[in-house]
Amino acid sequence: MTIDQLRELVRTIPNYPKPGIQFRDVTTLLLHQQGLSETVERLAVSVADKPDLIAAIEARGFVVGAALAVRLGCGLLLIRKDGKLPGETIAEDYALEYGKDRLAMHIDACTIGQRVLIVDDLLATGGTALAAARLVRRVGGVITGARFVIDLPELGGGKALRADGIEVAALME
Ligand code: PRP
Ligand code: HPA
Repeated sequence: MTIDQLRELVRTIPNYPKPGIQFRDVTTLLLHQQGLSETVERLAVSVADKPDLIAAIEARGFVVGAALAVRLGCGLLLIRKDGKLPGETIAEDYALEYGKDRLAMHIDACTIGQRVLIVDDLLATGGTALAAARLVRRVGGVITGARFVIDLPELGGGKALRADGIEVAALME
């Protein structure tokens, strides 16, 4: 499949979750067998150096991140909305395009020096991915890069991540 064909599988929902937001809905891409496998394969070949862990961000990042971890042969670190993880956690606040939230991870999910690739379905302002990077770095993990299915470049997330020294790639804009 071409990138244009993959892009056509992403549905746009106007005025969700707030008026004026054009929501790029990746669930329609996930429904498509070939679209899903091609998405995972393209992300996999974009990763030059295999990390120790994929840090996948709740919720849609779990889907892509888990598949990519299996494909690359690395472990999966779950970054969740605060209050969902049972063990001892650390948390970081962040601003969203349409609100604010708090992410958490288990304090023992990553050890000092482990190489971690951040994965999510979509990059908008970058606030979510930067909060995930802060969490991983607080426990001594090393961010090797970040991968997204979709980048919304006008929202500046790619610039913000690169300014923080994070190598970024997305399959489509
Ligand atoms: C979306 C998306 C990213 C984040 C991107 O998740 O899946 O995680 O927003 O936005 P940012 O780059 O501006 O931070 P959302 O917060 O809607 O959560 P969900 O996946 O649990 O629905
Ligand atoms: N789609 C999915 N998640 C998002 C979007 C979007 O358009 N904008 C910010 N987070």
